[in-house]
Amino acid sequence: MNSSDHSQEGPIQPLQPSALCADPKASTPNRAGSRSLEEVLVGIVGRSNVLSDDELRRPYEVDWTRRFSGRSALVVRPGSTDEVSDVLAACSQRSVSVVTQGGNTGLVGASVPPDDTGTCIVLSTRRLATIQPVDKAASQVTVGAGATLAGLQQAVAAEGLAFPVDLAARDSATVGGMIATNAGGLHVIRYGAMRQRVLGVEAVLADGTVISHLGGLLKDNTGYDLSQLLVGSEGTLAVVTAARLSLVPETPHRAVALLGLTSVAAALEVIDVLRGDLPGLQAAELFFEDGLALVCSHARLAPPLAQSYPVYLLVEVAGRTDCSDDLFEALSVLDLPEDASAIGVDTSTVAKLWEYRERHTEAVSAIGIPHKLDVTLPHSRLPTFEKQVRLLLERDFPAAVLVLFGHAGDGNLHVNVVGPDPDDDAVDEAVLTLVASLGGSISAEHGIGRAKARWLGLSRSASEIATMKAVKTALDPLGILNPATLFTGA
Ligand code: MLT
Ligand code: ZN
Repeated sequence: MNSSDHSQEGPIQPLQPSALCADPKASTPNRAGSRSLEEVLVGIVGRSNVLSDDELRRPYEVDWTRRFSGRSALVVRPGSTDEVSDVLAACSQRSVSVVTQGGNTGLVGASVPPDDTGTCIVLSTRRLATIQPVDKAASQVTVGAGATLAGLQQAVAAEGLAFPVDLAARDSATVGGMIATNAGGLHVIRYGAMRQRVLGVEAVLADGTVISHLGGLLKDNTGYDLSQLLVGSEGTLAVVTAARLSLVPETPHRAVALLGLTSVAAALEVIDVLRGDLPGLQAAELFFEDGLALVCSHARLAPPLAQSYPVYLLVEVAGRTDCSDDLFEALSVLDLPEDASAIGVDTSTVAKLWEYRERHTEAVSAIGIPHKLDVTLPHSRLPTFEKQVRLLLERDFPAAVLVLFGHAGDGNLHVNVVGPDPDDDAVDEAVLTLVASLGGSISAEHGIGRAKARWLGLSRSASEIATMKAVKTALDPLGILNPATLFTGA
């Protein structure tokens, strides 16, 4: 199962019914005669990497939004795949649930304890942060699950390459978490989401079995693609410990335009034109007048344009050589009023224009605990959805604040609602039902987590859900991995 020598551990007893859901902190031997789980875990990862103190565990028990929290028995921080294997074997033998956590930037409650019983453990992957030397010839790199996106981006840039999946949470989000959620982010229109970058993973199954497929072969038709099965599985099938990722040539020249427009339909028309004219188009981001006002007041920024517009579209091109002329030329055919755009072609102006979009998340969070509903609509339905979701909120939740923004190029809107109690999911139900009625998906890139498990059936058929549950049961028969995520108990 693994090769590490943990001579301090003592024997791990096979699962006994009496040990099911045993108190992981109990220091007296359980009826099976084994040491407590805490003692076993200390033997595996060392005392300093098992956190039992309330204060030390707390940051691992509340998610970034503050909407989801719970209590764990322990937080364990393994430093190698072998240690993860031993930790999972020990938990499996005691039927103790394991919630895997990377940078804790998830937005659907999948990486914090599901309840206040204090019976699960949080397995933090942050110490698995090794980034192997870049394989330049193959344009690939093998990276530990706990490496941050920003760390990965810096490491590969030193070799003239880029990891093109990018997110505002890049300084904290980890590669493992991004694989678990199939993170998308800002550059999906050009490079795809995480799934397109993952060539293979190393992962540990619930019982401690290690599966490793890090060879990076581009052609490899040897049965089921277990690595891809784990992409987007939200910690429910295995704990990803490392991944082989494909890289792209670095495109250091960037140019950005922030356009003021009259409607979502107008923004989509602009995107259609730019897609045809600009092969280097890598972002097409949408936000609205009210969201911009919130960001400007929260971040103390001056408005980007001389006058206000109902809709804003931020587009970015990037290339190996200066691509600003390409952007100017493409914009010229759009015939926009002169003061309806702000252009950035140097690093500092580009970063300033991005702030208007990237700081939406923190600005929304600053006015309350948000209900974050991350959805995709078919391209043609996006304008209808925008209108209908505003009407829905005005009619049924008049006291709520609605802030919309997102990745218009891939039909992905982030619906943020502040006001309703965090535990009241009526607004979640109403918005997700509207999305489904328009042929959309209830999760574009954040995942289902525990936030949307009740509504999985709006996007997936009963037979699809039954098949997913069969896979879950095959890989995690005791159901210890992220038990409240993706599926409800029913
Ligand atoms: C974003 O696009 O900024 C992220 O998905 C975060 C969010 O939705 O708040
Ligand atoms: Zn997003």
